[in-house]
Amino acid sequence: MNDRVAILQALGVLDDAGKPTARLDLVKAGKVARLTKEEFQKERDKMITVCAQCHGRSYATAQLDAGDRVVRDADKIMAEAIREVQALYKDGILSKPADWTFAPDLLQFYEAKSSIEQDLYVMFLEYRMRAFQGAFHMNPDYMHWYGWAPMKETLRKIRDEAEKLRAEKASAKK
Ligand code: HEC
Repeated sequence: MNDRVAILQALGVLDDAGKPTARLDLVKAGKVARLTKEEFQKERDKMITVCAQCHGRSYATAQLDAGDRVVRDADKIMAEAIREVQALYKDGILSKPADWTFAPDLLQFYEAKSSIEQDLYVMFLEYRMRAFQGAFHMNPDYMHWYGWAPMKETLRKIRDEAEKLRAEKASAKK
């Protein structure tokens, strides 16, 4: 749940205090996410009914549950990367551009003003997507080598970059 909160903050759907923002209304209006357990389960049951035309119901359910676990694991490392960048803002190493409402903001895409945030949005919109879509398409190669592995690599890069930015700031003060 904490990992989800970090991701929703980086999407500007929750604010720093974890309260819903105006963007949540857009998400609701556009129906881009299942926001309740019931709504989610309805779609899940529909999908299992499709799988069950050819597979056993419990087999299909187990496959989709495995996909859910990939999402959870991917979100865990995504949240770690986001917290790293949030901390740079909190500690005054990065400063929020005047025309942004949220920072970091994954939905600024390639307009992000630092390499570390460029890495962060690609990690979310490209690698995390591939990790979970690969998993739900039963494609372990795609899930792993095009999704999970570059996510782990990017988390390492983000940590290295954060360390560098902090060191630069510290030496500029001297
Ligand atoms: C129209 C029939 C059909 C439907 C619908 C279908 N499958 Fe399959 N599925 C197959 C067939 C046939 C294979 C075996 C393909 C092969 O071995 O080349 C397969 C293979 C698989 C495999 C790989 C099994 C293995 O041991 O490699 C998984 C996992 C799987 N399906 C999950 C699902 C899930 C989850 C759904 C629903 C989202 C689904 N399938 C829907 C027919 C179907």
